Amino acid sequence: MIQLVASTRSREYPVFLSEGLLDETGRLWCSLGNRDKVVVIADDNVAALHLARLAESLAAAGVKVNAVKVRPGEKTKSLENAALLYTRLFDLKTRRQDAVCALGGGVVGDLAGFVASTYMRGVKLIQIPTSLLSQVDSSIGGKVGVNIPEAKNYVGAFYQPHMVVTDPDLLTTLPRRELVEGLAEVVKYCLLTGDDFFSNFEASYEEFLSLNMAYVEPVVRRCIEYKLRIVSEDERDFGRRAVLNLGHTVGHGIEAAGAYKAYSHGRAVALGLLAAVRLSTKVFGLPDRYSERLQSLLLSLGLPVRLEEVRPRDVLAAMASDKKSDDLSANMVLLKTLGEPVTNCDVDASLVKDQVERLAEGD
Ligand SMILES: NC(=O)c1ccc[n+]([C@@H]2O[C@H](COP(=O)([O-])OP(=O)(O)OC[C@H]3O[C@@H](n4cnc5c(N)ncnc54)[C@H](O)[C@@H]3O)[C@@H](O)[C@H]2O)c1
Ligand SMILES: [Zn+2]
Repeated sequence: MIQLVASTRSREYPVFLSEGLLDETGRLWCSLGNRDKVVVIADDNVAALHLARLAESLAAAGVKVNAVKVRPGEKTKSLENAALLYTRLFDLKTRRQDAVCALGGGVVGDLAGFVASTYMRGVKLIQIPTSLLSQVDSSIGGKVGVNIPEAKNYVGAFYQPHMVVTDPDLLTTLPRRELVEGLAEVVKYCLLTGDDFFSNFEASYEEFLSLNMAYVEPVVRRCIEYKLRIVSEDERDFGRRAVLNLGHTVGHGIEAAGAYKAYSHGRAVALGLLAAVRLSTKVFGLPDRYSERLQSLLLSLGLPVRLEEVRPRDVLAAMASDKKSDDLSANMVLLKTLGEPVTNCDVDASLVKDQVERLAEGD
């Protein structure tokens, strides 16, 4: 078993990573000195597949377990559902020393984490991420929250979990399209980490797609390690943490231009990464071959390399309104080279426009 340590100003906590760890959750939680009740929150899909094993593991370690199910999907991440969960926790006589356990993807992780951060001003929190996106991204770093009708992720908190249990085996039940969603973030980490990770992943992505655990586990580990390092430097997102937004400025513009229907987050980020890498060539002279290699990697993974569902000008308008200004340049993350991201790049707006238009041309 791999044990990584997340070290932030507000909390230090272990991230356990290994195949089959779901069955060890009870033992691991007790080994950290916990005995009190755990309330598991899961969506119906994940509950049907994995809740029984988790409950068994906790019960076998002598931990009392309750479970609350929510409906799958982004709409579940709402204040209304948070309120319903507060009532359920109250009815279950949940006390301050008890824990909430988020078993699921980013939706459940963010919602359950938010509830844990606010119920009785904070109860313990266990994250058991079950989607690739949540394993490499949302379960670590402590951002929890819900959407409001006006905007995504606008209400929330920084609340680090007390333990994260990452079991890559759980990915075997994940629908393929959700796996591909998470791969966009994995590619982002490859670019952020450096040429050797990028080249390794390029050489072994087929093993990843077929979920050969000998390849999946080390890749997930590298992504987690990178995020842990960044978060330990800048827990509250005032500076360095912005590197994690590589590909997300254009990506968010694409998602918003398609009203969050035409493009999922991962697919929009894939296009955003391509735009960011091409811009990096223009601004920092990043060798052209990287955008070509990125393009063919994205294609092999089943991610888009051409903007087809929305118009470039709508993307640019969404980007401008996202920033509440016409200045498209600030806050972009670019790469000096692989492994050397630069935040707050001051790129000429016309260069950004060119690259968004180029995405639609698909060359
Ligand atoms: N907190 C953060 O730092 C952070 C970072 C990135 C994204 N997010 C948030 O994460 C959310 C997206 O997360 P997501 O992509 O995991 O979506 P999700 O939680 O909706 O999961 C995607 C789908 O996969 C299903 N699923 C999950 N694990 C499964 C498994 N092992 N087997 C079968 N089905 C499974 C779910 O039921 C759901 O239908 C967004 O709300 C986003 O805002 C948060
Ligand atoms: Zn993302």
